[in-house]
Formats: sequence, structure tokens, C-alpha cells
Amino acid sequence: DLSVSWLGQTMPGCLYNASGVWCREEAELEAVRTSAAAAVISKSATLSAREGNPEPRYHRTALGSINSMGLPNHGFAYYLDYARRYDYGCGKPLFLSLSGMTLDDNLIMLRTLAAAGLPAIPEVNLSCPNVPGKPQLGYDFVTTTEALNAFDRAWPGRYGVKLPPYFDPAHFAAMADILNRHPRLAFVTCINSIGNGLVVDVDSESVTIKPKDGLGGLGGDYVLPTALANVREFYRLLPGKDIVGCGGVKSGKEAFMHILAGARAVQVGTCLHHEGPAAFARIAAELAALMLAKGYRSLEAFRGKLRTL
Ligand code: DHB
Repeated sequence: DLSVSWLGQTMPGCLYNASGVWCREEAELEAVRTSAAAAVISKSATLSAREGNPEPRYHRTALGSINSMGLPNHGFAYYLDYARRYDYGCGKPLFLSLSGMTLDDNLIMLRTLAAAGLPAIPEVNLSCPNVPGKPQLGYDFVTTTEALNAFDRAWPGRYGVKLPPYFDPAHFAAMADILNRHPRLAFVTCINSIGNGLVVDVDSESVTIKPKDGLGGLGGDYVLPTALANVREFYRLLPGKDIVGCGGVKSGKEAFMHILAGARAVQVGTCLHHEGPAAFARIAAELAALMLAKGYRSLEAFRGKLRTL
């Protein structure tokens, strides 16, 4: 049984897409919804549509991916319209990723979504690394504090945030202190890509993507240990909140690791980009087989039970 009860509902599994992957077009969102995924999240929306950064802006490697997409999206109204027509009766929650270019834009989107009165749940993105000149919000604790205080006034329900990866216990603790002041902040998604990596091609002696002279967000195998550290640390530091694990999931094994580290649900990014929505049924079957071999009948049986030495 891979079902997950959280956010006041039970969803049929624990896997869904990471925002940004297979979710910019309505046809992609519907392909995720009608796959073995247990939920759907849309591409990070800005208030107005964006073309994104110049190509090439995504590059696959043997160990994962580097991207600097630059928030190409159809604009908030497109995803709100999808949310108005979404089949909530299918039992798969719909999350809307919001990534305004300014705090005001995020507040306008949250207020508009609230006025629409839909069951869609916002995941506010505090961690886009790919807009030239715009630092990742989640690395600025003062601005993050102000943003969350404003979100509380703009949005009356439960919501979540997508965090960048942190690399120091002092930063885990400081961010947890901020997040714990917000009772309606129900979940945090850990992690966004490891920002501003550089993948070099030896043959051409060149960078592999065009924006930011080659700097981009890393996903895939590169990020799994960092993702697990963030999931485990925030699982311990945020009692009463759910952690959504994201980073390096390409089989049932990595999904199991994320849940063992404390994840309530698990998102798939780079692997979904490379394999398409068929990845969800494969990974779910592998996770079920691993659980059967270990004698676990539910995710609750091992969630957060990672052993230390
Ligand atoms: C993009 C990348 C991200 O990691 C993110 O959180 C939002 C947007 C992008 O480049 O489109």
C-alpha cells in the first residue's frame, strides 16, 4: 500500500512530478495526472508569461542534468484556468507552483487563487536559481521572513514552499526557526536543483548550456545525498509539517531512501524528463517490491526511521 494521507486527503501513491518537469503545457499536466503519479504540480508560474532563457538551456549528462530554463511558462492565468477545470475527483491533489518575479506578484497570485476558491494547493518557489540577476530567495533569511509573513496574509489555507538545498547545520536551524512560525505552512519541498553548477564538455572545451555562461541548476544523481540531508534535517526540525522529497529519484531505491529520511511524498524531476510519465509506474512498482522484500506494508512503517550509527 503506497497511499499517503496528508493535507486532509488520501492520495493513491507517494510519487509525482517535480515542478518544472512535464508540467508546462496542459497536455503534459494531463499526462502526469493520467499516469501512475499520485498528484500533479504545475510549472512555476510568473504573473505574466515568459519565454525563458536562450537555448541550449538544458543538458543531460551520465549523472543527471544541468538546466537554466529561466522560468519559461504560460503565466499564472493559464495554470489557474487549468486548476478551474481540473478533475479533483480523480483523487490526485493539484499543486500550483508559484514563482513571482517580485513579492507583490506572489501576493497577487495567492490572492487570486484564494478568490477562486479551488482545492488546488500552492507550492511557493523560494529557490529558482536561473533568472540572471535574481538570487535564490531561500538563501536570504530576512527576505524569506518578510515573504512568509506576507503569504500568511494573502492566502487563507494550507500551503507549501520549495526550498533550495542548504549545506550547513546553522542554515538548517535558521530556516527551520523561520518556517516554524507559520502554522499554515503545511509542507516544505526539499530540494530544488543545486544552483549554479558548471558542466564542462572536454571535446569542445566548452560549457554545455548558454545562459549565465554555462551556470545552471543540477539535478539527478549529483544531488541525491544533498537532497536526503535536507529531507532528514528538516524532518527533524519541522515537527508537524510534511517534507516532500525531491532530488535524485530514478528508481524505487531512491524513493525508499527519501521516505526513510522522512519524506511524506516524493517528486521525480530529471528521471521524469528523460523517461516520461511511464517512470511513475516503474518507480512505484520497484518501491512496492522493495517494501515487500523488507516486510513493510505501508510507507508509515518506515517513514523517518533512518538509523544512525
Ligand atoms: C526554473 C528553475 C528552477 O529551479 C525553479 O525553481 C524555477 C524555475 C527555471 O529555470 O525555469
